[in-house]
Amino acid sequence: MSVDQPISSSRASRPLAVIVLAAGLGTRMKSDVPKVMHPVCGRPLLSYVLDAATALAPARLVVVTGPDHQGVEALLPPGAERAVQAERLGSGDAVRAGMAPLAGFDGDVMVLNGDVPLVGAALLAGLLGRHVDGAARATITTVVLADPGHYGRVIRDSSGDVARIVEARDASPGQLAVAEINVGFYVFDAAELRRFLPTLTADNVQGEYYLTDLVHRFLEAGDRVDAFLTADVEASMGVNSRVELAQVTAIMRRRLLEQLMLAGVSIDDPSSTYVDWGVTVGRDSLIRPQTMLTGATSVGERCTIGPGCFLADVTVDDGAAIVSSHLVGCHVGPDCNVGPFTHVRARTELAAGAKAGSFVEIKASRVGRGSKVPHLSYVGDTTIGENSNIGAGTITANYDGEHKHQTVIGSDVKVGSDTVFVAPVTVGDGAYIGAGSIITKDVPAGALGVARARQDNIEGYTDRRRGRRRDRA
Ligand code: UD1
Ligand code: CA
Repeated sequence: MSVDQPISSSRASRPLAVIVLAAGLGTRMKSDVPKVMHPVCGRPLLSYVLDAATALAPARLVVVTGPDHQGVEALLPPGAERAVQAERLGSGDAVRAGMAPLAGFDGDVMVLNGDVPLVGAALLAGLLGRHVDGAARATITTVVLADPGHYGRVIRDSSGDVARIVEARDASPGQLAVAEINVGFYVFDAAELRRFLPTLTADNVQGEYYLTDLVHRFLEAGDRVDAFLTADVEASMGVNSRVELAQVTAIMRRRLLEQLMLAGVSIDDPSSTYVDWGVTVGRDSLIRPQTMLTGATSVGERCTIGPGCFLADVTVDDGAAIVSSHLVGCHVGPDCNVGPFTHVRARTELAAGAKAGSFVEIKASRVGRGSKVPHLSYVGDTTIGENSNIGAGTITANYDGEHKHQTVIGSDVKVGSDTVFVAPVTVGDGAYIGAGSIITKDVPAGALGVARARQDNIEGYTDRRRGRRRDRA
C-alpha cells in the first residue's frame, strides 16, 4: 500500500536514482493495451509501482517506456523523467535506456520491474537498507515461493552466496527445482552498472538482453552481490498474464476493503464488494453485498449503499441510501433515497432529501431539495425545484430527433401520473398538472395544466351492445 510520508533514505549517504522498467510488450497479456496500463482496482498497475518509488524520495526517477506507450506520460509523478526504449530487446536493454538520462549520475541506482503492483515503499526501503548495510555493489531481492513457476531462479554457491540468476526458460531441471526466485527489484552501484551494461549479450532462449545476467558480471569482476530475502510473497507477484492480473487485483481489492473497514465502514460481504483505488467512504456507512464503487466515487458518513449497486464517479453525501441501482457521474445529496432499480446518469444533481424511486431514469437534471420522482419516470435535461412531486410514469420528452431541450419545473409542483412534458417547457411554482396530460405549453405559477381528451360516458352502452348480439343470434 502507498505510504503518505516519504521514507527517509538517510541511511544511504549516497544519492539514489530509481529506474522503473515499463516498456515490455506484455506479450502474454494478448492485448493492444501496454501491460503496465492495465488497471488494478481502476488504476494502471504502473501507478502503484511509481507510488512505492516516489515514497523513497529519490533524487531522480526515470520511467522506461516504449515509443508508442500512450497514456504513460500522464501517470508520471512530478519530477519523473521518461526514457524511451526504442526496441524491446529485453530488461537489460531497458536498463540501458533508463541510464541514458542518468549519464552523470553517481550513487545507487534502484531498478524496479514496473509490473509488480503490490510492492510497497517499506519493502523497497528494506532493500535499500540492506544494500547500504551490506556494502554490496549490487543487491537483488528474492523470495521463496511454493510454486516458483516462470520466475527467474536464484542460484547460490556452496557457501550460500548468490552466484547467478537463471531464467526459468533457460534453467536445467535441477535449477527449476530451486524455490528462491528473483523478485525484480535491484540496487546497483551506478558506476559499476554503467561498466557492465555494454557486456550483456542475448545468447539465451528468448534472444533478449537479460538484466539478470548483470549479477554474474558483477561477481566475475569481484564485486560483492548481496540478496535481500523478503517474506512478502504478495509484493513479489508480477503481472504477466490476465490470470495474474486477476490474482493481483483480488489482493489489492481485499486490502482496500480492509482499509475501509478499519476506518469505520461496515461491509456485509467483502467477497462480493468491489472498490476502486481512491474511493472514499465515511464512518458508519454500510456497504451491502453485490456492490461496486468505482472511479472517483466518494461516499459520506451513515450511508447505505446496496445490495446490488454500481456507482462510477459518484459523490454521495451523508445519510443517503441507495439500493439496487446504477449511478454514473452524478451527485447524490444528503439523506437522499435512490432505488430500487434506478438509473441516475451523468450530470444529475439530487439535492438534500430528494428521492429517485423504482424504475426511474434521470439524466443531466437537477432534482431540488425534498422533491420526489418516485416511480416509473424518465427525467432528462430538467430542473425541478424544491418539494415537488413527479407522478408515476412521467416523461420529459427532451429530444426532437435533432436537439435536446430543457424542462423547467418549479417548486411545490404536483405532477399527475402519466404526464408527458414536451420540452422546451416551463411549469411555474405551485402549479398542478392533471394526470395523463401532454404538456406542450408553459404552465403559469399556481395554475392547473390539463391537456387530455375530455371523457365521454355513453349511457346504456352495454345493454345496447348485448341487444345487438341477441338480434344477430
Ligand atoms: C523478470 C526477470 C525474472 C524475474 C521476474 C520477476 C529478467 C530477464 N527476468 O522476468 O528473473 O523473476 O522478472 O517478476 O529480467 N521490460 C522492458 N523492456 C523489455 C523487456 C522488459 O522495459 O524489452 C520490462 C517489463 O515491462 C517488466 C520488466 O522489464 O516490467 C521485466 O520484464 P518481463 O518480460 O516481465 O520479465 P519476466 O519474464 O517477468
Ligand atoms: Ca514480469
